[in-house]
Amino acid sequence: TVLVVDFGAQYAQLIARRVRECHVYSEIVPSTMPVSEMLAKKPKAIILSGGPASVYAEGAPSVPEGLFETGVPTLGICYGFQAMAQALGGRVARTGVAEYGGTELKVLHEGVLFAGLPAVQSVWMSHGDSVVEPPPGFTISAATEATPVAAMEDPRRGLYGVQFHPEVIHSEHGKAVLKHFLDAAGCRPTWTMLNIVEDAVEAVREQIGDGRAICGLSGGVDSAVAAAIVHRAIGDRLTCVFVDHGLLRKGEAEQVERDFVAATGVKLRVVDASDRFLKALAGVRDPEEKRKIIGREFIRVFEDEARAIRATAGGPVDFLVQGTLYPDVVESGHGTGTANIKSHHNVGGLPEDLKFTLVEPLRTLFKDEVRRAGEELGLPPAIVWRQPFPGPGLAIRIVGEVTRERLDLLREADAIAREELSRAGLDRDIWQCPVVLLADVRSVGVQGDGRTYGHPVVLRPVTSEDAMTADWARVPYDVLSRISTRITNELPEINRVVLDVTSKPPGTIEWE
Ligand code: XMP
Repeated sequence: TVLVVDFGAQYAQLIARRVRECHVYSEIVPSTMPVSEMLAKKPKAIILSGGPASVYAEGAPSVPEGLFETGVPTLGICYGFQAMAQALGGRVARTGVAEYGGTELKVLHEGVLFAGLPAVQSVWMSHGDSVVEPPPGFTISAATEATPVAAMEDPRRGLYGVQFHPEVIHSEHGKAVLKHFLDAAGCRPTWTMLNIVEDAVEAVREQIGDGRAICGLSGGVDSAVAAAIVHRAIGDRLTCVFVDHGLLRKGEAEQVERDFVAATGVKLRVVDASDRFLKALAGVRDPEEKRKIIGREFIRVFEDEARAIRATAGGPVDFLVQGTLYPDVVESGHGTGTANIKSHHNVGGLPEDLKFTLVEPLRTLFKDEVRRAGEELGLPPAIVWRQPFPGPGLAIRIVGEVTRERLDLLREADAIAREELSRAGLDRDIWQCPVVLLADVRSVGVQGDGRTYGHPVVLRPVTSEDAMTADWARVPYDVLSRISTRITNELPEINRVVLDVTSKPPGTIEWE
């Protein structure tokens, strides 16, 4: 294990991903974690992430007490680098020269980090303070025009630091630098997809023993892969439940029944619970309230199903399988003390009186890793490469109250958008494209000879690597135009189609 100590940076996630891409397992831990707890995880290496703070700022997060005395090889990045320099007797100063973005780096000493790499390379910088003097024992290995110490190392003690961000793709040889550090720390590249899947199956087998589990399938890749892992572990003692909460997209239920069952042979129950969900959502407009209600109803339906299965299966069902991913864990504030942005129903919105023990075989994985696991498990591309769809479904894509009529309308608009994007061959370029109905907004239009007073829908096509950050997708105008024309022609209640050109941050992908 490589521990990525999070000083409050979005970058911590990226660092963890890059380390995993080197086939070494990595995990993010908060900078407030005591060193004894870190050591209990038996880390082979530690990476200190960047962070928004200046080492001089009041309340700036400090390096956990005793970290540099553990003998565990450590790499400091950006803030982590400065904190390391300061803690070990170097000098950090506000030089008055900030560097943001692409910068030219000159390698002064190849050493461990830059072995065999070009003497001049482009790196990504984002800092105000600079290390002006390395601590005793360190060699300066690189500099930039504005930063005299842009990288340093003391291989004897296994300590390394870089001012730039090797984890971002704009740092030309960043991944090689990370790899050199991992190699020097003795991390073997053993974390492969096959091992991951086998370990996950084994862990589930151990957790569930000879018990029974149910799994809510959403039709998305996460729950499908989670179910496939559990099915491999416990076979027919797993029952999958597909809850049609009435908030699904067109053709979704049919696709799950057809593709997933065919590929895995799992036992599947399809429950039509739309009345129940719509009743619970009546009159509700607040996004968080919607999410909590949907999360709660989901679990209630599961509990009912579990009782029904128990009655026929001859034993209790104690386990609930969830396709929770690593970013869900971190984003819902359960990870490293980051803010709770939204209650993702599969983490934050669970009721307190939950009667199941959760089984979450994907809890440590990022989305692209889940997709690779799905391929390893032999799931069909239609499932593995399906674009993400949120558990609360279309309910969080109707801004305003959720009603059956509005759902039907949005379902049709969404189907048109998806059809045209697929036809244009854009499925794999686009991470996902929510279609959002602004149900409480009306605008005047003209159609035929008459005035219309209809609703707008928003197209929200985004590109992303892991949904933590996203950019709006540059969908060709003619594709947008076809979508717009078809939606307004085929759905008279919608008289306007608008495009969301906001990145994440500041916008989230979904509107609610
Ligand atoms: P946001 O809107 O937070 O979405 O940028 C990030 C990704 O997560 C999906 N999403 C959810 N998935 N349950 C889920 O299973 C949820 O409650 C939920 N909310 C958002 C969203 O579609 C995007 O891919």
